[in-house]
Amino acid sequence: MKKLICVLLVVVFALSLVACGDVGKQGKKDFIGIILPTKEESRWLNDQKYFEEYFKGMNYEILFSQNNSATEKTNVETFISKGAKVIVLCAYDAAAAASAVNEASKEGITVISYDRLIMGTDKLDYYVTFDSCSVGKAQADYLVEKAGSEKGINLYMYSGALTDNNSVLFFEGAWKVLQPKIADGTFVVRNCEKAIQFKDKNNLTREEMVSIMQTIDSEWNMERCKSLAEANLTAAGDKGKGKVYVLGPADDDCCRALSDAFLADPKVTELKITGADGVEASVQYIIDGKQSMTVYKDTQALVKATKQIIEALQKGEKPKTDTVYNNDAKDVPTIQADVVTVTADNIAEIFFESGVYDGSKYTGWK
Ligand code: BGC
Repeated sequence: MKKLICVLLVVVFALSLVACGDVGKQGKKDFIGIILPTKEESRWLNDQKYFEEYFKGMNYEILFSQNNSATEKTNVETFISKGAKVIVLCAYDAAAAASAVNEASKEGITVISYDRLIMGTDKLDYYVTFDSCSVGKAQADYLVEKAGSEKGINLYMYSGALTDNNSVLFFEGAWKVLQPKIADGTFVVRNCEKAIQFKDKNNLTREEMVSIMQTIDSEWNMERCKSLAEANLTAAGDKGKGKVYVLGPADDDCCRALSDAFLADPKVTELKITGADGVEASVQYIIDGKQSMTVYKDTQALVKATKQIIEALQKGEKPKTDTVYNNDAKDVPTIQADVVTVTADNIAEIFFESGVYDGSKYTGWK
């Protein structure tokens, strides 16, 4: 009798595994390796939190690459040796990551580029991302709207890390909107000779954009932002102070570092500065007017999109995607998520009433 019960239990257990739908040949759930760029930037801690929430019950592990290509490569190799079926990779270096993708692909692993597009490999399978061009556009729209019909406003521009393809997209989105307003004298660029050189050209080539960005590269690093801002203010002198507008490099951490540096200069009397991500540390800054806006990326959307692709693959179905991104080697099937602009005027609705953040922790927003 005991034996029979045991056999029955084993059968029930085996059936329950099959019913899960994500069981590999070895009877174990398919292993998924997730690699995020760093724990030092708040954005990625949000992604980690949501992977842990939405991937509960799945067989996964998260590694961080500490903004280092060698560590990133080792992380991919670790997951290959652990028999991963899928690797979700948010690359520190868009170009360097290509060889790791190729290695994984040789082992039959599906690679999903997460948030940042891995460039120059036709072995990349999928991409999940926010619409980065629209992030840059939203930042620039904000500055242009605030400028109104005024002329001669000091403008400082900063770009994301050049290792990150998103930085080009952010810049492209912003440049298309800002350029006519630089050309007509609404804005006077105070920290970037290259941008002034191109002030009459709206459609820049990638090389032209990169040539501008090289002189204003934040490297996605707060210390670097602080020192860039201080050097830029010193070089600009008094004529570049007073009313100051700043195109931040589409990252709230960088935005706060820049804001602190600009506001530390007593000759800066008014500051409008743009961020992106919508991280918790920026909430009070936005309420206090030390950060004028953020472009909120609900990272749950990316995590859910990633899960959707993986689940389709596990069922042997073709994952549904909504667009393609070209990575210089192929058109990568992509799921793209939308973003929303948050200012002090709608922060209560977007962040507090919807439960993203706890409004009772903050002062001055009612
Ligand atoms: C991401 C941003 C992030 C930045 C710095 C970009 O690729 O899209 O959300 O703030 O990297 O980590």
